[in-house]
Amino acid sequence: MKSRQDLNVPVYLDYNATTPVAPEVVAVMTPYWRDRFYNPSATYPEAMTVRMAVEAARSDLATLLGTTSGALVFTGGGTESDNWALRAGLAYWQGERRRILISAVEHPAVAKTAQALRAVGAEVVTIPVNEQGVIRLDALDAVLNNQVALVSVMCANNEIGTIQPIAQVARRAHAVGALVHTDAAQAVGKIPLDVQSLDVDLLTVAGHKLYAPKGIGALFIRPGLDFPPLLTGGGQESGARSGTENTPSVVGLGMAARLAQTWLAQEGPTRQAQLRDGLENRLLAALPDCHIFGREGPRLPNTLALAVPGWPGAKLLSACPTLRAGTGSACHHPEDAGAPTLRAMGVIPDLARGLIRISLGRETTQADIETAAEALIRAAQSLNT
Ligand SMILES: Cc1ncc(COP(=O)(O)O)c(C=O)c1O
Repeated sequence: MKSRQDLNVPVYLDYNATTPVAPEVVAVMTPYWRDRFYNPSATYPEAMTVRMAVEAARSDLATLLGTTSGALVFTGGGTESDNWALRAGLAYWQGERRRILISAVEHPAVAKTAQALRAVGAEVVTIPVNEQGVIRLDALDAVLNNQVALVSVMCANNEIGTIQPIAQVARRAHAVGALVHTDAAQAVGKIPLDVQSLDVDLLTVAGHKLYAPKGIGALFIRPGLDFPPLLTGGGQESGARSGTENTPSVVGLGMAARLAQTWLAQEGPTRQAQLRDGLENRLLAALPDCHIFGREGPRLPNTLALAVPGWPGAKLLSACPTLRAGTGSACHHPEDAGAPTLRAMGVIPDLARGLIRISLGRETTQADIETAAEALIRAAQSLNT
C-alpha cells in the first residue's frame, strides 16, 4: 500500500481546529440513526434502550472528568456551553453581583459573550497574562471582591496551548463567593483532567476536539448548584436543556471519552510531547531566529506555536503545500495586530502576525513530523533568499 507521502496527501497538523471522528465513534453512532432511532423519552422497550445508551455515554464522560453523571448536561458544543455558563452565571445572581472576570486569552465564545453581557449590566474585567500566556494571579487578586459573579478562565489555550492554573484561580474566586467556569474545550482528552481537583463550578466540553462529531458538547455543573436552565421546553436533560437529545452524537461523545481515557492511561500525552518537541528542536536548529511561543510555560503536549520573523503565518504556510496547520491571521494588513493571544502576551504585532499553530493528533507519526519540519524549513529558507 502506498504511504500518505507517496500519495501526496497533505499532513494534517491542525487538531486544535478539529479532529476527525474516530472510527470507533462512527461505529457506535451508526445504529442510532435508523435501527435505534427511538426518542429516549418514550416509554416502550426500544426507546428505553436508547435512554440507557444516552445515560451510559454520560457516565463515560463523567468518568473521564472525574465526576458523576448527574453533573453533566449535553449541549450543542463548546460555544453553546460557554454561552450558557456566562449568561446563566450572571443571571444566577439576579442583579446581586454584576462583575465578570475573564482572562485576556479567552476564546471568542467566552470573550465575546462577556462583552455582550455588558448590554444587560455586566461589568467585565479582563485579567492580563504574563509573557507565557499564563494568567497573572496578582492581577486577579486585585479585582476579586464580593461583586464578582463569575470568573471564567480557560483550561488550555487554543492558539498557544498554555495551561492555566485553574485550581488556584478557583480557590481565590471561591474565597469571595464567585462562581468559577473553565472552558476546557482544548484540554479534555489531551491532558488528564479532574473537576474535583480543579474545583470549578462549570466546565465546557467540545466533542469535536476529542474525536467525537461537531455540534455536540457538554457543560459540567457542580452538583447542588441551582443553575438557570439553557433551554426551557420538554424538560430533557433534567430540565436544564430541553430538546430531544442528539442521540447519535451523545453516544459518540461517550465512546470518544472512553477512547480518551485509554489514550491518557497509555502515556499518549508523553509520546505526543516527544513528537512535538522533536519538531520544535528541528525547527530551532535549522531556523535559529524562529520564535516558539509559550515554551517556558505549562503547555498542551500537542501544541506548537511559532513564528519566523518577517513572515506572516499565512504566507509561510502557503509555501508549505504538504502541510495543513493553523494561522492566527490570514492577511498582512498593517492594522492587523496578529493573534489575540499573542497580543495579550505582549508579542509585537509584526511577530504576532507570523503565528503558525501546529497541533498534533493521536494518529500523528514521526513521518508526519519529518514532512512538516522539512516543509517549514524549506519554505522559510526559500522565502529568506
Ligand atoms: C477554547 C475553545 N473554546 C470554545 C470553542 C468552541 O467550540 P465549538 O466549536 O464546539 O463551538 C473552541 C473551538 O475552537 C475552543 O478552542
